[in-house]
Amino acid sequence: MSGCGWMKPGSSSSESSNTKTDADTAARYSHFRNPWHVKKPHVQVHDRHGRGFVRAVELFCGAGGMSRGLVDAGFDVVRAYDAWPAAVETYRRNIGPHVVEADLNNLLTVVPEISALAPDIICGGPPCQDYSLAGRREEGKNASMTIAFAIVVTTVRPQWFIMENVTQAQKSEAWAESRAMLKRAGYGLSESKINAAYFGVPQSRRRLFVVGRLGEKDGFLQSAIATKASAAPMTLRQFFGSAVPDAVFFPATSDARRSFYSADESAPTIRERSIRSLPEGHRYHPADVALLENGYVYSRPVRGGRGVRSIDEPIATITRTSWERPTPRYLSAPHHLDPVTATDTAVLSVDQIARIQGFPAEWTWGDIPKRDVLQMIANAVPAPVARALGEIILERHQGQSVPAIEGRFVDWLVRVGRTRTTAHNIKANVGRARRLLHGRTFADMGHELLALEAASGFDALPKNTKSDLRRALSVLAEFEASKLQKKRKPRRPAVSVLPELESVTTLKQAA
Ligand SMILES: C[S@@+](CC[C@H](N)C(=O)[O-])C[C@H]1O[C@@H](n2cnc3c(N)ncnc32)[C@H](O)[C@@H]1O
Repeated sequence: MSGCGWMKPGSSSSESSNTKTDADTAARYSHFRNPWHVKKPHVQVHDRHGRGFVRAVELFCGAGGMSRGLVDAGFDVVRAYDAWPAAVETYRRNIGPHVVEADLNNLLTVVPEISALAPDIICGGPPCQDYSLAGRREEGKNASMTIAFAIVVTTVRPQWFIMENVTQAQKSEAWAESRAMLKRAGYGLSESKINAAYFGVPQSRRRLFVVGRLGEKDGFLQSAIATKASAAPMTLRQFFGSAVPDAVFFPATSDARRSFYSADESAPTIRERSIRSLPEGHRYHPADVALLENGYVYSRPVRGGRGVRSIDEPIATITRTSWERPTPRYLSAPHHLDPVTATDTAVLSVDQIARIQGFPAEWTWGDIPKRDVLQMIANAVPAPVARALGEIILERHQGQSVPAIEGRFVDWLVRVGRTRTTAHNIKANVGRARRLLHGRTFADMGHELLALEAASGFDALPKNTKSDLRRALSVLAEFEASKLQKKRKPRRPAVSVLPELESVTTLKQAA
């Protein structure tokens, strides 16, 4: 069975948080909700028939990590496919009956089915086993699933798609082929390496997310994704601290001792009696309290990384073996940067691993063998990451966000002869034009100008303002072309590659 969790240990983050108070934590992560408490979709989007507007189909859905996040963001996931019966069963139990057990190699069956559903977006994380062997160049059956994903997208042609994979996939031949196919089909691509620790998960997990939209410029969602990231990675303390009630109740064994402890301090020894005496309405998780009390956690390193982490940092990428105790081999040759000896650490329970991977507390695994459960957990896209990406897409889809200009546009304008004041005005006009375009960018300059012309409110603007906006977009296109040219031929000076702005009438005639 394919799996990704164990393939690529996340790069450990050297950043640690000094966050101490709940208020600071709440402010920093105010745009994320603890997945435990997420019950209802955050954004409700409906078309005029009251139907969920953004209809999603997920390929390679696994247990449903990505689907769960997309549903939380407000997507209407109408169909999901996976070939693994245990994953399909888990998905059906926790997400819904719209999941189908199918081998996605059978494109002739699957493509017409999906086309009939007319999704607005196709999502999926094709199996990534082959890419984890990066360097050995053994791309095979699983890598071809990336191509299958691209074939489904380019044949069904939804407005949007999201593809998730290990970061090595970006350098693969399968992605090069898929990318070319998607570009030929007219998709603009935003390729981002996202670390889950900045999107509401206490886990350093870097994955490639490619978001595509028909007609867009490449990189169209990059600034929105960067804006959504939190300022610092989420730590285990922040995650479990908010899951454990502020005041944890441990009934005192004598009058001289107190019974309530903050989640930010060491708890007294947990006894059976403490658990029995919990008053009604109080809920705590002994394993979480024990983890916070311990302060350090062990998670088996996969590629020579650190085994021991403080709870004031995110844990390394969750894998199938994250629950295992330190082996004698590790204990005899620990990582030199381990802050404490591995024997003095807590080890994560399967339930904690699932929650760190974004599965909500109410998630159930049924009678599925533990090794399969761990594989499904390790495979998953953490739901808070999928949710954040889903919200970013919905905001853009609804025209509520506008892409920022990537690169030093103002400096470039000054370099090519504008005064700084003029340069700032041009930049402001690009922003204004993009707002009129509801955040859309267009790979084709002619289409962009036509869309601007048709944008509501544009016609009513004074003649000068209209030409300022047209000119601003065309100068921006010139800047972007110069950046591309610089990348291709670094030694040649940047030259203007755009012809003088044609009149809109000419463009309209040409279209
Ligand atoms: C990386 S996991 C996807 C996890 C999922 N995105 C999530 O968030 O839970 C890849 C999935 O692809 C499925 N898979 C592999 N080959 C397949 C095939 N030929 N047809 C359908 N599903 C397949 C595996 O069973 C596995 O569940």
